[in-house]
Parts: sequence; C-alpha cells; structure tokens
Amino acid sequence: MITLGIETSCDDTSIALVEDGCKVICSRLASQNDIHKRFGGVVPEVASRKHLEAILPLLNEVMQKAQLKFSSINQIAVTVGPGLLGPLITGLSTAKALAWQLGVSLVPVNHIEAHLTAGFLNEGKLPEYPFVGLIVSGGHSVLVIARGPRDYEILGQTVDDAPGELYDKAARFLSLGYPGGPVIQKTGSEADENRYPLPRPMLKKGYMFSFSGLKTAVIRTVEKEKEAIDIPGLCASLQAAVAEVLVAKTELAVIKNRIKTIVMAGGVAANQPLRERMHQLSDKLGARLYVPQIHLCTDNAAMIAAHGFHTAHLTNHDSMKVNASANLQMGDGFFDR
Ligand code: KG4
Ligand code: ZN
Repeated sequence: MITLGIETSCDDTSIALVEDGCKVICSRLASQNDIHKRFGGVVPEVASRKHLEAILPLLNEVMQKAQLKFSSINQIAVTVGPGLLGPLITGLSTAKALAWQLGVSLVPVNHIEAHLTAGFLNEGKLPEYPFVGLIVSGGHSVLVIARGPRDYEILGQTVDDAPGELYDKAARFLSLGYPGGPVIQKTGSEADENRYPLPRPMLKKGYMFSFSGLKTAVIRTVEKEKEAIDIPGLCASLQAAVAEVLVAKTELAVIKNRIKTIVMAGGVAANQPLRERMHQLSDKLGARLYVPQIHLCTDNAAMIAAHGFHTAHLTNHDSMKVNASANLQMGDGFFDR
C-alpha cells in the first residue's frame, strides 16, 4: 500500500512516498528558510506563493527518485490543518486534483497528530498504544495521552508561546538567525548550561506550559550583563531551562497514568540537550522512548503519509469536500467546520 503525503502547513513544501505506513520510500523537502530569514519569521503570503512554485516540481522529483509511476499511488494523505491558511490550501488543492485524476482516496491529516506518528517511522514500526505524547514545535506545545489512532486525551498545552517560538524570538533578539532552535543549539553546544540562573516556568504546576517568561528572562539577562554577556552560556542555559520543564511534565504524565511508552516529536524534539534528558528520563522510569530522527522531527510529508495510512479507516465522509482549517485541534473532526 503506497501513500503519497503532501505537507504545506507552514514554510516547508514537502512530498513523500511511504509504504504500508512505516517504510519511507522517498521524502523530499523544499525549504523556504532562506526567504523568511530576512524577516525573522514566516510571511504567510510569501509562503503561499513559494509553495505554489515548488509543489509540482517536487512531486515529479519524488516520483522520479522513487522510480515509481503515478499509477502505483494507492492513496493521498494531505495536511488540512492546523497551519497557515494560504499554504494549507495550496497543498490541499494539489492533493484533491491529484486524487481525482488518479481515482484514489484522499485522507485528511491533522499536522500535530502526524508529528507523533513520525516517532515510529525510525524503526519501521506501527504506533504502539497507549503512549504519552509530547509535541514541541514552533507552533505547538502539547502533552497528551494517545489511546489509539485519533484518540487523544489532552493533558496540557502552553498558555502562551510554544518552545520553538521562544527559540525563534530569542535568536532574533540575539541576532543569531532563523530558525532559532538549531542556531541556539549550535551556539550553546560547548557552553555551561548553569551559566545563567533562568527560571523554570510552571515547573511544579501540573501539565500546563508557559515559555514567554523565558523570553523576557533572556532580554533581562542581556540588559543586565551588557558587554559582559556570554551568548553561548545564555543559549546553553536557555535550552537547559526548556528541557527541564518539558521532561518534568512528561515524567508526571508517565507516573500518574502508568503508561510506559513515551513519544516526543515536533521541531524542538530535534534539540540535542532535550533528547539527552528525555533518554535519561526513560531510562530512569524504565519506559520506551520513541523520538524521530532529526530530519523527521521538523515538518515533513513522510509523517503525513504515515499518519494518513494509520487513520484512513476513520475518514468515512467524502474527503473531497474537506476544507483547510487553520485552528484544527488534535482529535478534531475534519467535517464539522
Ligand atoms: O515542527 P516544526 O518544523 O514546525 C511547526 O510545526 O511548528 O518546528 C519548527 C520549530 C522552529 O521553531 C525551530 O526553531 C525549532 O522547531 N527547532 C529546534 C531545533 N530544530 C528546529 N528547536 C530546538 N533545537 C533544534 N535543534
Ligand atoms: Zn510541525
């Protein structure tokens, strides 16, 4: 069973072919980072136009690389939300046209849910339920219990910024570049993570997260230290603060719910200090930890294809009628809006 995945929810155009929901045949990405870099963030209108330019050449490239004919595609999975509306519509329209032309079914996919499925792609595995899922990216910070495909209990979310958003804003303030996460990681890689005593927001307050205070703490530290500021030390301290909070909330979820499988996904799951701490936690708790390979943490179409494969049986409406939805939540129906 070959699923074609299409992802255009933000600034990366991605197309992938996945076999049986767990074997990546080919996954390609056209990044717009260089274009949005100069603005310090994604400009939605520019992103839509760039998706339009990139999507068909990328589709052809993937089919050629995989040496497959279009007729071997069995179904098409596409991100319908959440994300930027213009970019989402570009991918969805392409997917609908292709599904109609090929006479195959279209599977609508929730982007945040798909991040979690990426955790199982590494090992060519089908998702193992139940698990505690942590999705940390530029737009999301959600802790859930996944009980089955599309069956989630949301334990906690961020009350303000997502951790990736914090990294992007902090990097912009420190003039380090965009996207912020990778550059903060690189800058802080050799530094002392105890260099600055940054706060651990809402550490002991249940499952909710808050990261905007850490951005203020970074600004205050720079203002206080002036020329003496140790930027690598600040980057390392910031990553330690974020990781400590994320790991503590995950630990609470595992212990309270007696679930022995953890999945961490999303762009921020690529963060090395966070990955190390999460591995230490899973060792301590005797839990299994699934974290995608680095290139499958950030947005990609392989996770969309895989998640589409696992959830296709739950789409019993005429999916050609589905609309893009900027504010889709995990587990939301696709046809109620
Ligand atoms: O999942 P993703 O590609 O897009 C969203 O769905 O938001 O995540 C992008 C975010 C950006 O904020 C970026 O700064 C962050 O993931 N990121 C990282 C790393 N790589 C990407 N954050 C920390 N460390 C990294 N190595
Ligand atoms: Zn994402």
